[in-house]
This record gives sequence, C-alpha cells and structure tokens, in this order.
Amino acid sequence: MHDRGHEMVVFSGVKPSGGLTLGNYLGAIRNFVELQHRARCYFCVVDLHALTVPQDPEKLRAWTLDLARLYMACGLDPTVCTIFIQSHVPAHAQLSWLLECMTYVGELRRMTQFKEKSRQHEVVTTGLMTYPVLMAADILLYDATHVPVGEDQKQHLELCRDVAQRFNNRFGPTFVVPEPYIPPRQAGGRIMSLTDPTKKMAKSDDEPDSYILLTDPPDVVRAKIRRATTDAGREVRYDPEEKPGIANLMVIMSLCTGRSLEEIAGQYDGYARFKNDVADAVIATLEPIQKRYRQQEEEGLAAIERVLAEGAERAEAVASRKLAEVQEKMGLLRRGCP
Ligand code: AMP
Ligand code: TRP
Repeated sequence: MHDRGHEMVVFSGVKPSGGLTLGNYLGAIRNFVELQHRARCYFCVVDLHALTVPQDPEKLRAWTLDLARLYMACGLDPTVCTIFIQSHVPAHAQLSWLLECMTYVGELRRMTQFKEKSRQHEVVTTGLMTYPVLMAADILLYDATHVPVGEDQKQHLELCRDVAQRFNNRFGPTFVVPEPYIPPRQAGGRIMSLTDPTKKMAKSDDEPDSYILLTDPPDVVRAKIRRATTDAGREVRYDPEEKPGIANLMVIMSLCTGRSLEEIAGQYDGYARFKNDVADAVIATLEPIQKRYRQQEEEGLAAIERVLAEGAERAEAVASRKLAEVQEKMGLLRRGCP
C-alpha cells in the first residue's frame, strides 16, 4: 500500500483561530509553499479542530475565510494545490468516528497538548480529547505520504501512524502510513515566544508582544522585536540553552534572509544593531505577503468562494472514495444494496 505509485502526497492543516503568526509561517506554511510544486498537495483550514475550544460563531466564520486568504497570500496557488475547508468535506468527521473506535482512551490521555489544554480550560470537552483522531482522519483520507507541520504536532503524527498501522493490521492494507515533515529547531520547527523564549510562539498567548502576526505593520514588528527578551550579555551566538532569546532571533533572521547561523553570529557585537537587522529581515519577508493579502481582500468574496468550492470538490472526490473503502472493510452495510 505504501508504494501505491511513488507519488508524494502532502496534507496539512491550520486552525482558523485568528491570524497566522511568524511561527506558523516559518514552521509550517513556508514548507507548504515549497512542497506545492513537487507533490500533490492538500491544504486544509481545519475549522472543526477550532471548535474544540469555545468559539464565537461570527468570528470563526470570519477567521476561516481569512485563513484561506492568508494561505494564498503566503504563496499557495489554488491552481497547483487544493485549498479547502475541513467542514465542507463531511468524510473528515465520518472517518474520525470510525477511527475513534480504533483508538484507545489511554493513547489520547497521554497527548501533551491535551494535557496542557485541559489544564488551561475549566471544562474539557470530548472534542479536545479526540482532536488527534480527527487529525488522523484528515491525513489518512488522502493517502498523504508527508505531513509538513511544526515540532508541536510530532506526537499527534505518531498517533496517526499508530492508528493507521493498527487498522491495516486488522483489516488489510488500507492507509498509507504518513511521514512527518518537521524542520529541525534551527530551521523553524519551533519558533519561540519573543517575551518568554522558553515557550513556543502562539497566537493564543495573552501577551501580544510575544508573537508577530503576518499582518503586523512594519512599525509594530520593529517594536516587538526591539522589546524581545534577551540576556544581559552582548554576544550574538547560537546557544539555545544559555541564550534562548538571541538563538530564537537568530533562527528567525536566518530563515528570513537565507543566511546561515554562523554567518549571522560573526557580524555583531551588541544587540541593538542585531535586533534592528532582524526587524528589517522580518519586515522584508512579510511585505510581499501583506501585499498579496490586501489584493486578496480587494478581489472580494466571490473569488475566494470559488477557490474554496473547487477545492472542496476535488478533496471530496478523493476523501469519499477512501471513506467508502473503510466503511466496507469495517462491515458497514452499503445503502441500497447488500
Ligand atoms: P496551529 O495554529 O496550532 O493550527 O498551527 C499551524 C501549524 O503551525 C502547525 O503545523 C504547527 O505545528 C505550526 N506552528 C505553530 N506554532 C509554531 C511555532 N511557534 N513554531 C513552529 N511551528 C509552529
Ligand atoms: N493539529 C494541527 C495544529 O494544531 C492542525 C491540523 C489538523 C493538522 N489536522 C491536520 C495538521 C492534519 C496536519 C495534518 O496545528
């Protein structure tokens, strides 16, 4: 089943929870853009995943549309890859149920993200717990061979692989077991918070200075980087243990300029000029994204709706075939015929 052709198939998703951070971009979306030219790619706005914590319905709708626009602003081309909204393809939720029946509660309880999030929220929904099963369904419906994500999703991907293998062992070859496509830390796999470089950069952080949004204007970017936490020294070198703040800014700069960490380290004796150059590099990276984002908005609702309708149609054709195969293997009776 793994070598059903040698085609590379890529699936990934991002939650529409209000904007994209530089961490999302450098850890994941930058790779989506690169992969779209050498693999069959599906990029999903995972609105069902956003529902695992309380959402305002109007905001969720706006963010969902916005994220599809941001995908394209980052360089995803809907004529080359498939961009769609998760809830538009019902097979995701349907396969998720079937896979839930093959996933152990103990496996889900062990997930670090579940443990962290259930500490943060007063009530813990079942959806928060079964979140990784829905993610597995997303991936397995498309026979994805590679899943580009940031480091925080590694454990969820391992669960997806385990469930796929378990299904294949029990019912015969059905799912492709996907490979993670996660950059190492020096290459953006985990971009850290600007205010607390021991935590990852996240848009859910209460402290807006801790993250850069892709839509932040240049003066905001510069101010956030100027305020970024560093140590009391003046030496710019890559040492994530001793100098996590500086190391994080170096990684950001390296990814935004294409220059190596060694090259960057050799150029500074003091943080002020370094931070100023990091800000320049980030601003230059965001500029074309923000320009395309404004164009997307000007093109209006009809244009994005067309992209999403076509995307859902293409995705659905693939997903419904896989779902039918799974239903058949698990013993569900086909409607209308025995
Ligand atoms: P989310 O916004 O949680 O849906 O994440 C979307 C994608 O961005 C996932 O692949 C995450 O692993 C990735 N990601 C989120 N935060 C970071 C970060 N701070 N550094 C690197 N990748 C990240
Ligand atoms: N769980 C991922 C995150 O929080 C989002 C996601 C949902 C995803 N389904 C996916 C990522 C499938 C990759 C593949 O970032």
